[in-house]
Amino acid sequence: MSNIRRFDMDAGGSSFSFKQETEAKIAFWLSKYPNERKRSAVIPMLWLAQKDNGGWLSEPAMREVADRLEMAYIRVYEVATFYTMFRMQPVGEFHVQVCGTTPCMLRGSDDLIKVCKSKIGDKGSVGANGKLSWEEVECLGACVNAPMAQINDYYFEDLDETSMAKLLDDFVAGKDPQPGTRIDRQTSAPEGGMTTLLDESLYDGSLARQLTSIPGAPSSVVESAEPDVAVKETASSPKLENNASADKTETEVPKKTENAGKPTLEDTDRPLFLDKPEGEADDLKQVSGIGPKIEATLNELGVFHFSQIADWSKANIEWVNGYLSFKGRVERENWIPQARLLSVGGETEFSRRQSKVSEKGE
Ligand code: FES
Repeated sequence: MSNIRRFDMDAGGSSFSFKQETEAKIAFWLSKYPNERKRSAVIPMLWLAQKDNGGWLSEPAMREVADRLEMAYIRVYEVATFYTMFRMQPVGEFHVQVCGTTPCMLRGSDDLIKVCKSKIGDKGSVGANGKLSWEEVECLGACVNAPMAQINDYYFEDLDETSMAKLLDDFVAGKDPQPGTRIDRQTSAPEGGMTTLLDESLYDGSLARQLTSIPGAPSSVVESAEPDVAVKETASSPKLENNASADKTETEVPKKTENAGKPTLEDTDRPLFLDKPEGEADDLKQVSGIGPKIEATLNELGVFHFSQIADWSKANIEWVNGYLSFKGRVERENWIPQARLLSVGGETEFSRRQSKVSEKGE
């Protein structure tokens, strides 16, 4: 029995050279670092050397890496012997790393080790005519599919005595077993299929169409209590909650029967409305694009303040455009930016002019 983690000066001949096709990979790794920092490439270089040396690192292979990186040999030995990904003794064509850490142990890794011992030999030995070798390693990060083993570069999961034995036989027979789980599961999903998210409506978008309000959202959605007659404020409407007349939640709203096919007062996209101004109504005519007639219509719809317009969502704007046959006028005339400015006491060029006209009583 040999310890594949133990450095052995005599284990692997007297020379090593990288394969020709590996040179491009070496150039790639070296290009990642400034020349005076090329030692930073020591781990990938050792990894490439291990690949080109049949799965383990001989002393000449480590020396070649040290020469290429202009490092002291001892520095490269230190790195190679520290990381368990590097092996210091010859291994089989297929090297099996069985995880023996607690989750895998509790799920039967001892059985996998038993199979390795019987088919390959003692830990660290090379068996099956040089085809197989094995070692026990610590957690490989696939605990959800325990017990598992890594064979060369791939994970084989949810193993048991039978599947492990078959796996090793397949490798010896020159087959190319598929990596991954050995039971009925998709990656790390539950055995036998999904147990959650079985209701497609949770993710097919159909529930979104039923969403009527988002608590605390700036623009409240209005729900209809009695179609065409009364509308009700939602509980999440912050402005109405503070309104002295908030208890008066239902109000008669004029019905526009002449606009068949247009958005209706009951549409959930209708903007937040008030049944009367909170204090004094704003002069909405200070918004460029809103004249006396539109202001009257907006008031009729329960819109009295700049802050209400400032809070309109895209859906609200579309509703207003549609309801009043505006064809994009709200956006074109920049009602929202103007209303935002005016709602916090600001002025626009237009509102300044408009105020002067009002003062003169024109
Ligand atoms: S314990 Fe075995 S993969 Fe984590």
